[in-house]
Amino acid sequence: MLRLEDKVLEGSLRLGIELSQEEISKAVMDLKRWTRKEYASTCVIKTYDGSYTLASGLYGEPYHSVSAGAITEVIEKFVRPSGVVELAGKLKKITLMDVGFGLGYNTAIAVFLIKKENPKAFVEVHAFEKSLPENFIYLPEPFGDMHRVIIDLLPEGERGGVYVKLHEGDIRSCLPKTRLKADAVFHDAFSPYKNPEVWSLDLLGLMRERIKRKGVWVSYTSSLPVRKALKDLGFKVGETRAVGRRRGGTIASMGRDFALPPAQEEKLETSPFSVPFRDEGLKEDPLNILIDYRINVLLREREFSLAR
Ligand SMILES: C[S@@+](CC[C@H](N)C(=O)[O-])C[C@H]1O[C@@H](n2cnc3c(N)ncnc32)[C@H](O)[C@@H]1O
Repeated sequence: MLRLEDKVLEGSLRLGIELSQEEISKAVMDLKRWTRKEYASTCVIKTYDGSYTLASGLYGEPYHSVSAGAITEVIEKFVRPSGVVELAGKLKKITLMDVGFGLGYNTAIAVFLIKKENPKAFVEVHAFEKSLPENFIYLPEPFGDMHRVIIDLLPEGERGGVYVKLHEGDIRSCLPKTRLKADAVFHDAFSPYKNPEVWSLDLLGLMRERIKRKGVWVSYTSSLPVRKALKDLGFKVGETRAVGRRRGGTIASMGRDFALPPAQEEKLETSPFSVPFRDEGLKEDPLNILIDYRINVLLREREFSLAR
């Protein structure tokens, strides 16, 4: 297997950019830090609000925020900012896209809360998941019954005004085959540095075509490469309330007005890390996406030091 340093050199050849030894070492240091696993094996963990989630040994990260709490995270970072409960009161039918279905908490809690307030609303969910967990952890009541219904419906089914379709596999190959138009996207892959292929400008661009003009894209992340990609694609980008950590998540729409706090807007303009991940063919190796990103950050660092 190639050493990380050799992979960075390979990346510099791929992009046609010559790197100094110092730049290579800096890139390698960051890449090591970004890809370090917090969890070495898959296990069940208890989160801040008492609810349980999984930690993935493969990605080295938990499925939900431990400091916010799994259930709290779903409600505060996805369901509430997206406004889907209120929207379902206005529309007869609402379409959700759940990117990174995982344990199905986002879908189950959103559908439960929508149906509680709007029993007659029809909810259509398109869930994208590369690989379902071997064992599900079921949510406690009041969400547990709906969670079981959703899991029972997989891979596709309808019951009580709820339709669920699981698009199983890498979203990069599943999404191009769909023709849906979502009112809301819950983008809940692992964090950008651990799971870069799900956060590229190229995939987000494809997603843009599958979101209604007034629809929203929401995520827990405040990552610069992701916010920059959304902006470059023409989304209006805003910040959601911070829960369980200092920084809020991100909300974006093509047809609704959102804005970032001025300090975040400035950071997006001035930080060398504000460069989108690229994956033009939607099949690049995730590590290469990260390496190319780090090399592009180096280029921005060079520009900034020249301008000083
Ligand atoms: C943070 S977890 C999602 C938690 C989930 N939303 C829940 O409520 O349980 C991220 C999920 O994204 C999935 N994932 C990662 N890369 C993917 C890809 N390329 N395509 C589809 N799903 C992917 C992982 O398998 C994992 O289940």
